[in-house]
Amino acid sequence: MSKIIGCAVVGLGIGQAHADGIAAAEGGRLVAVCDLLQEKLDKMTAKYPGVKTYTDFDELIRDAEVDLISICLPSAMHAEYAVRAMRAGKHVLIEKPIDITPEAAMQIERVRRETGMKAGVVHQNRYNVDMLPIRQAIECDHLGRVYLGTFAVKWYRKQAYYEGWHGTWDMDGGGSLVNQAVHTVDLMQWLMGDVESVTSQMDIYGHDIETEDTTASVIRFKNGAMATFVSTTCAYPGISTDIKIYGTNGSIEADQDVLKVWKVKEFSDDFADMMELDAADEEEEEEEMLARYGGGNPAYEAQHPGTRTGHRAVVQDMIDAIRYDHDPQIMPQEAIKAVQIVCAVYESARTGKTVRLS
Ligand SMILES: NC(=O)c1ccc[n+]([C@@H]2O[C@H](COP(=O)([O-])OP(=O)(O)OC[C@H]3O[C@@H](n4cnc5c(N)ncnc54)[C@H](O)[C@@H]3O)[C@@H](O)[C@H]2O)c1
Repeated sequence: MSKIIGCAVVGLGIGQAHADGIAAAEGGRLVAVCDLLQEKLDKMTAKYPGVKTYTDFDELIRDAEVDLISICLPSAMHAEYAVRAMRAGKHVLIEKPIDITPEAAMQIERVRRETGMKAGVVHQNRYNVDMLPIRQAIECDHLGRVYLGTFAVKWYRKQAYYEGWHGTWDMDGGGSLVNQAVHTVDLMQWLMGDVESVTSQMDIYGHDIETEDTTASVIRFKNGAMATFVSTTCAYPGISTDIKIYGTNGSIEADQDVLKVWKVKEFSDDFADMMELDAADEEEEEEEMLARYGGGNPAYEAQHPGTRTGHRAVVQDMIDAIRYDHDPQIMPQEAIKAVQIVCAVYESARTGKTVRLS
């Protein structure tokens, strides 16, 4: 039988979702948590009696029972802490964004190779139930040539959210784009392909912060397609995350994790077989796809017990990768792409010029 993986979490904001994911995972055990704040540690020991607590990361990485550490610290600390953990012989699961610059992200990749430890990155929205069918429809040319995408992350954050490290250049790496919208940046490049150039604007409309709370970009892809991408944390009370993709054979639209539109001109038996659809024509395909993927993650999980989405899915994937010695689904070299796009948007907005990605 494969070893049970001893897991730890550093940073107990979103880190609490990692702890819950570990507790629910097969083959993993929550061994320790680490934070500077005692009240956060106390909350964890109340929920998970017996879990060890640390306020000093150096002590955590010396704990021989710990195999894997979830790095859930403010974004600009990810590379430094992931590197320290890997050099101490620990695997790492790193929250998004992998770090705030491509250089810091590359350092993680270099040390991963040097040490042979496993490093995964959390972009859990790839596990949303509507994302896989969209990607499959694109990959097998069911949508025809994908020529246009529109992506809009219209969220809301109160001023109080920006009292700490959020919305700072040095710790968050930016505002609405790098923090809230980076998931959708990742999905955009995952669905539509490598980005060739960005032309962007940014501004501050609803908060007292140093970075931005709104961005707008025109994106060109290496395959010739184009997209618009907007992000904001001013859209009271939090409106939507639109992902809309148009191909020469059809149109797909989703909001958050819910499929809203599935209109494909020419029905394909191959796609129906691949998705195990009963459909025999376009109308039936639309009906079946919306019935299956139009309810979002909670509805899908209720219909399919045992399925996992969100942080649970990412944590399980990471634990499996260690136990069965394979790569985690999202590796550093893949997660770097979203950071490169984000940094290109900020450079374009600052300089007023189109920025090309290498
Ligand atoms: N995947 C997602 O959906 C998701 C959601 C929220 C946040 N995040 C990411 O997770 C990371 C953390 O964000 P957050 O919102 O949880 O932040 P947070 O400020 O709520 O939590 C960070 C925690 O780290 C602790 N900390 C700071 N320095 C420390 C140190 N040296 N040693 C130990 N603990 C330390 C703080 O006390 C705090 O409890 C960010 O990179 C963010 O982008 C991802």
